[in-house]
Amino acid sequence: MVDTKNTVKLQNGKNMPIFGLGTSQVSKHEARSAVRAALDAGYQQIDTAYNYLNEDAIGEVLQEYIKGGKVKREDLFIVTKLPMIHMDPKLVKRSIEMSLKNLQLQYVDLYLVHLPIPLAYDGNDENVFPTEASGALKVADKTDLIGTWKAVEELVDLGLTKSIGVSNFSISQLERICEIAKYKPVVNQVECNIYLQQKEMFDACKTLGITITAYAPLGSPGRNDLMKEQGESEGLEDPVIQRISHKYGKTPAQILLRFLIQKGTTVIPKSVNPERIRAR
Ligand SMILES: NC(=O)c1ccc[n+]([C@@H]2O[C@H](COP(=O)([O-])OP(=O)(O)OC[C@H]3O[C@@H](n4cnc5c(N)ncnc54)[C@H](OP(=O)(O)O)[C@@H]3O)[C@@H](O)[C@H]2O)c1
Repeated sequence: MVDTKNTVKLQNGKNMPIFGLGTSQVSKHEARSAVRAALDAGYQQIDTAYNYLNEDAIGEVLQEYIKGGKVKREDLFIVTKLPMIHMDPKLVKRSIEMSLKNLQLQYVDLYLVHLPIPLAYDGNDENVFPTEASGALKVADKTDLIGTWKAVEELVDLGLTKSIGVSNFSISQLERICEIAKYKPVVNQVECNIYLQQKEMFDACKTLGITITAYAPLGSPGRNDLMKEQGESEGLEDPVIQRISHKYGKTPAQILLRFLIQKGTTVIPKSVNPERIRAR
């Protein structure tokens, strides 16, 4: 059972661990060692996505730990995401089956629609970001978020996922889905950190009963060169965060994460550094 002391209750009654390991832009090699470090440190939630192209490496480690008796499947909370190239309702079931095969699991705990923007599917499942000759992303001819959602709902009935949600959806998109939903999204995974506090999204999600998962909770240090060029500091270096971290004897990362957790979010900081993974 997921340890309920460190969970939030989702609107479908399931418990979601507050803390998870983020794995975007993590190579297969890095993913193996990061997931091992996280499981050894007691993490129950791992966040991945079909698009991250590392589900299979994560699956190897999950199998190793489950088969070796180090963890029980029911103690884990595995999250993965529907890629934009598979948002055509006809492709949704096959897509989660591909993810489950990669992850070597019978079901995931939470399946998210990764982005509300379907991309053109050209038959190549590895081409997750198809582009036009101009280099722009090649979007699908038709956007049918309701159709996609209906197909995702069927995955719950088929037992392929325990819960379903979305990611990067706007408030109006959430409202549209909730209006027609048989199963409402339990989570909207969005960027959220001290510099992007998402106040309106919090209010809307509270009304709709949706839990926010904060991605880039540390502000994705190192990602945004433009931000640095503009003279903006990163959250970890923010003078206020530095002051609070000295005052409480915590690392800046711990303060940034605590800020979000106190607002009721779940958090999925990414690290491939075992020491940082353990330090949460
Ligand atoms: N749904 C979506 O569209 C979406 C988009 C982006 C991200 N995500 C999810 O959210 C996760 C986290 O987001 P993110 O990776 O963009 O940003 P993040 O977690 O805010 O930041 C990750 C960066 O912080 C560094 N870091 C981690 N712990 C640290 C510490 N204690 N001190 C200093 N630096 C530290 C990491 O480096 P090291 O690895 O070297 O420690 C890494 O470069 C992703 O991995 C992914 O699972 C989802």
